[in-house]
Amino acid sequence: MSLIETSSLGKRFNDTEAVKQLNLSVREGACTALLGPNGAGKTTTLNMLTGLMKPTEGTIQFDAAYEGDRRNYLGYLPQYPKFFGWMSGEEYLIFAAELAGLPKKQAKISASEMLELIGLQDDGKKRISGYSGGMKQRLGIAQALVHSPKLIILDEPVSALDPIGRREVLELMKRLKTHTSILFSTHVLHDAEEVSDDIFIMNKGTVVIEGSLRELQQTHQKPAFFLETEKSPEEWLHTLKEQDWVVDWELDHHRLMITVDNMEKARANLLKDEHLHELKLVKFEVAKTSLEDLFMKVIS
Ligand SMILES: Nc1ncnc2c1ncn2[C@@H]1O[C@H](COP(=O)(O)OP(=O)(O)O)[C@@H](O)[C@H]1O
Ligand SMILES: [Mg+2]
Repeated sequence: MSLIETSSLGKRFNDTEAVKQLNLSVREGACTALLGPNGAGKTTTLNMLTGLMKPTEGTIQFDAAYEGDRRNYLGYLPQYPKFFGWMSGEEYLIFAAELAGLPKKQAKISASEMLELIGLQDDGKKRISGYSGGMKQRLGIAQALVHSPKLIILDEPVSALDPIGRREVLELMKRLKTHTSILFSTHVLHDAEEVSDDIFIMNKGTVVIEGSLRELQQTHQKPAFFLETEKSPEEWLHTLKEQDWVVDWELDHHRLMITVDNMEKARANLLKDEHLHELKLVKFEVAKTSLEDLFMKVIS
């Protein structure tokens, strides 16, 4: 059983269908990415899962083992977390732990364990107002973890960070995923590729592609050739399209990406193609379509 399963989940704000017919399943022990452009409905989805927003349609089912108040086994970091700058990191975590229902003594212990986990043990007594973006975001993840939840839900945890902060938070997520299930949203494919096991690509309120990262890579990364010519290859393209080994092509001025189904056959045919040579080849490279191509296709 999954930790969370949604069935035809939907949320409407007046005229806007922010989320529609959403079927999502979050596996225990996995790091799941909700990937999609701005406005895809990620935040709305996560808000419904955490209970902050009521769905207008569909259902959300939690693993039967965790019935009851879902706050006990969920931790949540919103897209725009607010901190009290005058508090120290340690005070903030004790405060969060007490809010989550831990007795004072336990809250203190948990806070110091969390500071260690996120690598802020030496900065725990400093005021949050002096923290960098990456430190604040790590603190935000720690507050989601203080009550040892089963699943943490992070809404765009790295989007607002500079490259160093991004790296800090992605590394923390990689360490966390070995013992906590994670569901996070992002609009950056690269982040999803780096840390997640499962990916749900969302566009316009619904899931358009889903699968494990490996499955998606295997299914969607196809062999390809990248060619650049001095003369325009537009006319030559007409004969190329007829070839049975050509799957897809994309022309950008004198640059041509040809996706093929058989690398060797394609290579042999291209190299002996006299018309191609007449176009004066500048570049001839073996390439691979990436998940980026798939992502751009499904969200456009
Ligand atoms: N409280 C709200 N009232 C009205 N429209 C909203 C509200 N929250 C989100 N929306 C709309 O729902 C859509 C999805 O938004 P959101 O879930 O924030 O997307 P994402 O997090 O993927 O960027 C957008 O079109 C947004 O304008
Ligand atoms: Mg959002």
